[in-house]
Amino acid sequence: LMRTKIPEGLQKLPGPKPLPIIGNVLEVGNNPHLSLTAMSKCYGPVFQIQIGMRPVVVLSGNDVIRQALLKQGEEFAGRPDLYSSRFIGDGKSLAFSTDQVGVWRARRKLALSALRTFSTVQGESSEYSCALEEHISKEGLYLIERLHNVMKADGSFDPFRHIVVSVANVICGICFGRRYSHDDDELVGLVNLSDEFGKIVGSGNPADFIPFLRILPSTTMKKFVAINARFNKLMKKMVNDHYDSFDKDNIRDITDSLINHCEDRKLDENSNVQVSDEKIVGIVNDLFGAGFDTISTALSWAVVYLVAYPEIQERLQRELREKIGMDRTPRLSDRTDLPVLEAFILEIFRHSSFLPFTIPHCTSKDTSLNGYFIPKDTCVFVNQWQVNHDPELWKDPSSFNLDRFLTADGTDLNKMEGEKVLVFGLGKRRCIGESIGRAEVFLFLAILLQRLKFSGMPGEMLDMTPEYGLTMKHKRCLLRVTPQPGFELPGT
Ligand code: HEM
Repeated sequence: LMRTKIPEGLQKLPGPKPLPIIGNVLEVGNNPHLSLTAMSKCYGPVFQIQIGMRPVVVLSGNDVIRQALLKQGEEFAGRPDLYSSRFIGDGKSLAFSTDQVGVWRARRKLALSALRTFSTVQGESSEYSCALEEHISKEGLYLIERLHNVMKADGSFDPFRHIVVSVANVICGICFGRRYSHDDDELVGLVNLSDEFGKIVGSGNPADFIPFLRILPSTTMKKFVAINARFNKLMKKMVNDHYDSFDKDNIRDITDSLINHCEDRKLDENSNVQVSDEKIVGIVNDLFGAGFDTISTALSWAVVYLVAYPEIQERLQRELREKIGMDRTPRLSDRTDLPVLEAFILEIFRHSSFLPFTIPHCTSKDTSLNGYFIPKDTCVFVNQWQVNHDPELWKDPSSFNLDRFLTADGTDLNKMEGEKVLVFGLGKRRCIGESIGRAEVFLFLAILLQRLKFSGMPGEMLDMTPEYGLTMKHKRCLLRVTPQPGFELPGT
């Protein structure tokens, strides 16, 4: 290994001593969010570990993370070249690939504008404020019907299994202008594999860093490659269907708008960054992938927390009864009137920290942080879980307490506290689906809570231990629902 010379005035990064070949893999273990939080107590908010032969810088603490991602944003905005990223979207993903900065920036801008346009556009019915609200409301009501039918047939249901289909249908509507039935094997089978995907993509997967692990027969890795192939195939089919029926006077959804952009761009000889058609239309893979897994994980956790804390569930239902009543379906504009529900969502984000690390970052040039030297092309992990459980920032961080996000009299949201929660990343790589994500989690929950009461199976304990991955899931479990008083369920 070459020894990098440390510039004068800067120090070498602290960190645990690596073993030959494997580095610190054993200390990092199966729960990197916990082990790296523990290490930050020992080595401080900027330290270095080694995974295999490769150094990785780990950032913790609100101040250091803000300094890196906001004040020195440009230097920390790259993505590392990881083995698993080669399989995501055929290696051309907007979120995971090592696109050079100009290409990434152009794609991100396009993605943002397409998302904004197609979520705020008016939907089919004037009953709804926008297409996003329309998709969520309809899918929310279908989900209630679905849960009811499954309850009738089986007496219980697996929450993630059904929620993920409803959430996928919302983003499917926006991206591809269509939805799938809850019985469609193509979509249901695929979206229910997202746990396996997240396990490989989570920060610190040894096979990303240690080449010889890639040639060992690994069932998880094989599954990962197969899931990506299946996902890419479905996306290709959707895109091809769009090319076949494309009409530039009738842009139906995000895929059409991206195809249209490729056509327009061919007429624009002055465009300075060259991005291939494939990379433009491929943006839709990222939007679809990021758009269903994150939100369904959040909602599934929310339902499990409701069951674990029945008194909170009752409090949320009381708020809905008092503020909205039972005569109409909740809307996005009800958010400001439902501070307890908003506080509940923030506390789910914080307490579960189900996205424990951002997607790994990478330095785009030699830089320094807190007086330590960090060379160009260093992989950087940002520990969001640590920030959300930092006793310097939160009173009693391990307890689930939504009142921490309400004003003292309990009637309003405490916005300043809410902004301390770190789940969408920060700065240049900050999530582009944040407002859709927050809106969707809110409206689905409001609709479900208005009509259903969730409970566990009698005599069974809920296991809330998260399974580590890019998005951490709760273990699959069985729950039950009963209709809220005053609500007839469809079909009864
Ligand atoms: C990136 C969180 C929903 C699209 C990210 C990142 C996080 C995140 C932590 C990585 C930030 C970084 O690397 O520093 C979440 C959460 C969501 C959510 C918690 C929901 C509760 C969505 C939705 C979409 C989306 C609905 C799109 C429809 C993206 C994309 C990126 C991203 C494209 C990559 C951005 C880039 O690399 O420039 N998200 N996300 N996300 N998210 Fe989200």
